[in-house]
Amino acid sequence: MIRILGIESSCDDTSAAVTCDRVLLSNVIASQKVHEKYGGVIPELASRMHQQNIIPVVDTAFREANVTKNDLDAVAYTRGPGLMGSLLVGVSFAKGLAASIGVPLIEVNHLQGHVLSLFLEEEGKTKSFPSLPFLCLLVSGGHTQIIVVKDYLDFEIIGATIDDAAGEAFDKCAKVMGLPYPGGPVIDSLAKTGNPDAFSFAKPRVGGLDYSFSGLKTSFLYSLQKKVAENPGFIEENKADLCASIQKTIIDVLMDKLLKAVAKTGINEVAIAGGVSANSGLIDRLQQNGRKYGWNVFVPERRFTTDNAAMIAVTGYFKYQKSLFSSLDEIPLARMGSSLSPR
Ligand code: KG4
Ligand code: ZN
Repeated sequence: MIRILGIESSCDDTSAAVTCDRVLLSNVIASQKVHEKYGGVIPELASRMHQQNIIPVVDTAFREANVTKNDLDAVAYTRGPGLMGSLLVGVSFAKGLAASIGVPLIEVNHLQGHVLSLFLEEEGKTKSFPSLPFLCLLVSGGHTQIIVVKDYLDFEIIGATIDDAAGEAFDKCAKVMGLPYPGGPVIDSLAKTGNPDAFSFAKPRVGGLDYSFSGLKTSFLYSLQKKVAENPGFIEENKADLCASIQKTIIDVLMDKLLKAVAKTGINEVAIAGGVSANSGLIDRLQQNGRKYGWNVFVPERRFTTDNAAMIAVTGYFKYQKSLFSSLDEIPLARMGSSLSPR
């Protein structure tokens, strides 16, 4: 039985989780509301909030898991990618704790954590897990990738965005409509009462399995500007239809390449992960495609879709099994490139 404390502080959520093997014992997340009024994450404020939150969050995670620091076998932390000031808080805390209790330190790539969140187990819950190899569409605020997961720690990225991420497209379009940050969940809920075919927007043309979302945001902005010039109340009067239409467009783009990835690889175990995998329209479409094409589909539980430390702890467990420990002099990495392989 391996007990791991996971620490996540890459962006604006301070999170700590305790796992026992793959079973989650606790997962505490302190979200930072301070950024809402700025319409995006302010890095300087994020790192200060992490500094305030980290000790109480870890303390609560220990209490909820009914463990103490002396029960731990390792400390896993998000090394990157993310905001440097935010990462530094989690990394420094993890190093200090691991050194003081004399357990190994395990660095985790945040993106790998999102994917491996699919393997978290919970007591009293029966779940099904993807079998290897499987395809994972990783869609978050910073990344959009199609990954062939060959083994728990052996990933191959076969498609990625060349500019904005899918989450960024949701957030930027929401901003254009004057909706609060983060815009993805707001668009998702407004879209439920709208007509997805009310408006159409130019879809990007990118080769292979890659994505592009920056043109879509511009197309959305220009078409809205034109309509608002004719009728200043346009956005307010059409909010639900606009949300449903932009959401459908983003999902169409995501699914088009995912279908191509299935055809290219012949893999029909298909999962989604990352913040945007909480989107109800995307989940519905994945399930429809699953039925239509005979895929086995997997979606992480909603609370594991956005940033959390449970996914970092479970990734730590997979690395622990292979003794992939890191040293105390490792520094956080704001960019971790596209390398998701174990170090
Ligand atoms: O994975 P995540 O928490 O952070 C990153 O690693 O980037 O993802 C955050 C992103 C934001 O862009 C947010 O708008 C989006 O996930 N998101 C959603 C939904 N919930 C969160 N996008 C669409 N629909 C949702 N329900
Ligand atoms: Zn994330």
